[in-house]
Formats: sequence, structure tokens, C-alpha cells
Amino acid sequence: MKRIFALLVVLGAIGSLVFAAGSGQQSGGGASASSGSLLIGIAMPETHVLRWQKDGASLKSFAEAKGYRAEVAFGDADQNQQNRQLQGFLTQGAKLLVVGNINDGVNSAIADAARDSVAVIAYDRLIMGSADYDYYITFNNFKVGQFQGQGIEQGLDLKSATADAPKYITLFAGSPTDNNSKFFFDGAMSVLNPYIDSGVLKVVGPYPKTSADNANFQRIATENWQAPIAKTRMENLLSNDARDVVLDAVLAPNDTLARAIIEACLADAKYAGGKLPVVTGQDAEFDSALSIKNGQQYMTVFKDTTKLAEAAILLADQILKGQAINIPGAELASGDLVSIGDTGRKVVKAYLLEPVIITKSNISVPVDAKFYTDAEAAQLR
Ligand code: GAL
Repeated sequence: MKRIFALLVVLGAIGSLVFAAGSGQQSGGGASASSGSLLIGIAMPETHVLRWQKDGASLKSFAEAKGYRAEVAFGDADQNQQNRQLQGFLTQGAKLLVVGNINDGVNSAIADAARDSVAVIAYDRLIMGSADYDYYITFNNFKVGQFQGQGIEQGLDLKSATADAPKYITLFAGSPTDNNSKFFFDGAMSVLNPYIDSGVLKVVGPYPKTSADNANFQRIATENWQAPIAKTRMENLLSNDARDVVLDAVLAPNDTLARAIIEACLADAKYAGGKLPVVTGQDAEFDSALSIKNGQQYMTVFKDTTKLAEAAILLADQILKGQAINIPGAELASGDLVSIGDTGRKVVKAYLLEPVIITKSNISVPVDAKFYTDAEAAQLR
């Protein structure tokens, strides 16, 4: 009896290997059969910025809804770890990779994918310094920054302010290894620089006019978008450069950093009791939406990452099926925006979705888009 059981186990194992090998080799044929065996590898950069947890889940769900197998991995802001995850996907026979990278150390894994004829989509973060892929899907990140600048313009009523009674601002930028950080910053400064030039707005701390001033940009950048780094830098500013002034605004590049900066301000008597500076953000994270509702953070930018994930998987499906690319709701970057896809080695096709500025007056936009859980939404209504 035992010998029969052992034989059945061996036959079963051989059968499953034959099936897997067969399905891994399928590349065309009917959509349901072949796409059901095709694997899409999804590599997200980190989980400490909450949006990426949502992105990973959405990408997997949309991929499986189209009949693909999908695996998600989080790099914990460690590019070597993400590279091992990408190599794992390639070893499993993935036919396409969706990559939110941490830094350009990802390029060796992207080169391996190209060598294996595996398509790569850069997801919401351009893969810099590589000519080994063709597609990038993100939001209009320059406009994200413009919204942050407009938030400060509106929050301080800069259009009515004068140089006789200047307003004071200090500047933060995102991770220096994330190419988006430059677009966010330059978008914001395109709105703020005219007020600085006229003396209406005065910068406390380092002042890169644009990200091209790399020395000063590096001084305001925040490694791997780490909130503790931003909090410590804000505490140092409050004790030193900003000790003798009252800050009216802080340019914060995303919500996790915005909340850390607000925490530092609230520990300073000058800003306690409802006298916080205008603090910007992006990602419409729930905690920040609540902070905006409660009058602390001033604004965020809603980037509907559910729509981004859906568009990325639609792009993946069209690439894998060799179809003409047509992504409803995403414009192919052109004109001045083409540089959003410039990796420094190649200009890849960049598909841009539209961001939305969110202040206390329109918190309902992400709520109505079902971006939050029901329990969270109930707290925002
Ligand atoms: C950027 C992304 C932002 C924010 C940030 C922090 O690349 O565009 O939306 O998530 O990373 O991770």
C-alpha cells in the first residue's frame, strides 16, 4: 500500500512540474489560458509610507482580475533587497515587472530583465540612468508641486501680502534618490520664487531656487522619505535658523513628512494652540486628511493610486499582448512634460494621471473616490 501511495506522490509531482513548465513557456494563445499562467512581478519600494501598501494590493488585484498571476514584494527602502526580489520574479519566469524603485541601484535588475526579454514598467518613480526599459506611469508630478506652492500662496494670501510685512517659509524636499522629488520641488518653487524675488516671502534655512542647485537641494532633501529625519531637521531649524522668527509656512513634500514636521512645531510654544504654519503634503493619507479636517496640515494632493494601479495593469496587459497602447485617463507626456520620462540614458514613454489639490474645503473628493475605509471615511465626513 505504501509503495502505491509513494508512486502516486511521485506521479503527482511530475505532473505538476510538466504543467508549470508548459504554462511558463506559453506566450500567446487564448487570453484566459496563457494570461492565467503569466506571472507579473510587482516590486514596491517601502511600507513606511502607507500609500505603497495600498498600491501593492491594488496592482495585485487588478492583475489577477485580468487573469494573470501576480506577486507583490516590498523593498523596505533597501534597494539590494528589492533587487533580490526582482531576481526572484525573473527566476519564477515573470513576463513583466512593475517596479517602484528606491534608487538607481535597481538598474542591474532592470538590465537582467531586458536580457530575459521581460518588460518593465517604472511605477510612479522613474528608473534613472537606465536605457533598458520603455514605460513609466505616474502622475503629473510637476503639477503636484505646483499645487503645494499654490497651497502656500492661498494659505498665506500671498497675492495680498507685501514686502513691508514679509512671510517666512522653510523648505523640505523628498528623497534625493527619488527623481520625483525634483519635480515636486520645482513645481512648488515655480509658484513661490516670484514672491521670494519680490521680498514678500523670506526663506529661513537653505534656499535652492530650483533642484538644479544640487548642493542646497541635498541640504533640504529627506533620505528615503524617512519621517524621523524630517522631524529632527525641523527641530534643529526651530532651535537655530528659525529661532528668532515665527514661520508662516513649511514646504513639506508628502504627508508622512508633513505630520512629522507638525509634530516638531507643536512641541514649540510659538506654534502650539492653533498657530501652526501652513504645512503642505501629498498622497491624501487618512491621517493627513484628518489633520487637514482638524485645521493642522493645510493641504495635500490626492493621487488616486487605485486609478494608477488600474492604469498600470492595463498598460501591462497591452504590452504583453502586443497591442497598441491606449490608457484612458492617462496622457502620454509631450512637450515640456516629456522630460518627466528622461532617465538620463533614454526618454521613456511616460503616462501621466491627473492629481487633485485637497484642502479642508474638498476633503470629500478622496472620500467619495472610496480611497479610505468606511470607518475612516466616517471620520472625514
Ligand atoms: C514618491 C511618490 C509620492 C510619495 C513618496 C513617498 O515617489 O510619488 O506620492 O509616495 O514617493 O514614498
